[in-house]
Amino acid sequence: MKNLIQFQKASSTHQETIFSWLASPHVREFWDNSPEHKTDIKLFISGRKQPSNYFDGIFSYWVGLFHKEPYSLVMTSTVYADDSCPELWRQNLSLQGTTISIDFCIGTLNYLGKGLAAPTLEAFVKFFNETVDPKADTFFIDPNKDNLRATHVYEKAGFKLIGSFAAEQGFFIGKESFLMIKKL
Ligand SMILES: CC(C)(COP(=O)(O)OP(=O)(O)OC[C@H]1O[C@@H](n2cnc3c(N)ncnc32)[C@H](O)[C@@H]1OP(=O)(O)O)[C@@H](O)C(=O)NCCC(=O)NCCS
Repeated sequence: MKNLIQFQKASSTHQETIFSWLASPHVREFWDNSPEHKTDIKLFISGRKQPSNYFDGIFSYWVGLFHKEPYSLVMTSTVYADDSCPELWRQNLSLQGTTISIDFCIGTLNYLGKGLAAPTLEAFVKFFNETVDPKADTFFIDPNKDNLRATHVYEKAGFKLIGSFAAEQGFFIGKESFLMIKKL
């Protein structure tokens, strides 16, 4: 199954598909569908020539394809030990390499509940390390504590539950999330 999964940097051909995923009820429950987030996605797609006021434009967006059909979205950013970094995150940063945070969803309903989530995440971590940043050796993912399905599939994909924290900024401010980590 894994060799049928590919990733592409989000581009203008994906934009409407991504926005339709963000508007789906199953994604809206756990993802930010705000106009600010959509503007940030547009800015990324157009090459980040203008600044973004959505987390200062730190995110990159990737589309997962199965049999060449888009079905999933991955959002990444490099984690630094700056003021916005929660203490639990700071304590678990890679010492030698890069730490990457991941947000993930399966957007297309036909691909939901088909056992694709864990293989997609495993394939994404490999893709990112091999083709985007060879120094990336530590991957964070932070499901909402109520998102038992996500927590389960992340464990299947090799992420270990480290602890919990409350988001200090952004759309999910104050909400308790788990920090789960996969190390290569
Ligand atoms: C989370 C998400 C990526 C999982 O993808 P999926 O296609 O639903 O998952 P899969 O079919 O690959 O696997 C589902 C697994 O979770 C289990 N599961 C389903 N509901 C569950 C629940 N409420 N509690 C615990 N496990 C659950 C299934 O039994 C299955 O486990 P198994 O393979 O060991 O039998 C997807 O549901 C999604 O994108 N949801 C909306 C956005 C989201 O929540 N993103 C995560 C934000 S951190």
